[in-house]
Amino acid sequence: MFNDKTAQADLKTYYRKGPNKATRVLIEQVSQRGVQGSALLDIGGGIGVIQHALVERGAAHITHVDASRAYLETARQEATRRGHADRVDFRFGDFVDIAPELEQADIVTLDRVICCYDDMPSLVEASAKLARRAYGIIIPLDRWWVAGAGKAFNALLSIFTRNPYRMFIHPTAEIERILAAQGLRREFYKRVGIWQVAVYARS
Ligand SMILES: C[S@@+](CC[C@H](N)C(=O)[O-])C[C@H]1O[C@@H](n2cnc3c(N)ncnc32)[C@H](O)[C@@H]1O
Repeated sequence: MFNDKTAQADLKTYYRKGPNKATRVLIEQVSQRGVQGSALLDIGGGIGVIQHALVERGAAHITHVDASRAYLETARQEATRRGHADRVDFRFGDFVDIAPELEQADIVTLDRVICCYDDMPSLVEASAKLARRAYGIIIPLDRWWVAGAGKAFNALLSIFTRNPYRMFIHPTAEIERILAAQGLRREFYKRVGIWQVAVYARS
């Protein structure tokens, strides 16, 4: 699903239009909580849209974990082109598997990543544990009609391309229950189309 072709297409769109609207909201919100000199853990960072923005706003160190080599490489090339690759630690793998090797970061972001992963509790719990100050996510609305569209998308993908990728609409309340248990309290919420942008802070 996340291959070189889609990474290059995403990069082209990014050059043309910049970050999409929901991501812009997330970048603004985490920036308001203090970026200067901070460490960011960007899980499933794709082509690196959040990290490019936060480095420009003063983030000192980024860890970008991604399960797609193509996206990780595209993010690395873009970071090199922008002159900040030396501030990014690019880590390939499933975040849940490599989480025990990672250090805490001031800010943790998951932009449209939780919906790619079946074992949501493990992903959310392990990532929340690594957030020292702020935790930002973008997830789909968990309404019946979004879940229906997701199921139709999964079925078409499987039938026509045999692609094993699946989109998951995890219950928002369940995600927030796990975050609350990890000491993260919601400070910001905005709906952007079918997406929910939320930022949590350690209480
Ligand atoms: C839909 S894309 C979103 C990319 C980027 N965050 C954005 O919004 O443009 C999902 C990304 O998350 C990565 N991903 C999904 N599950 C992951 C996991 N368990 N560990 C690490 N990366 C993951 C995929 O490889 C892909 O790059």
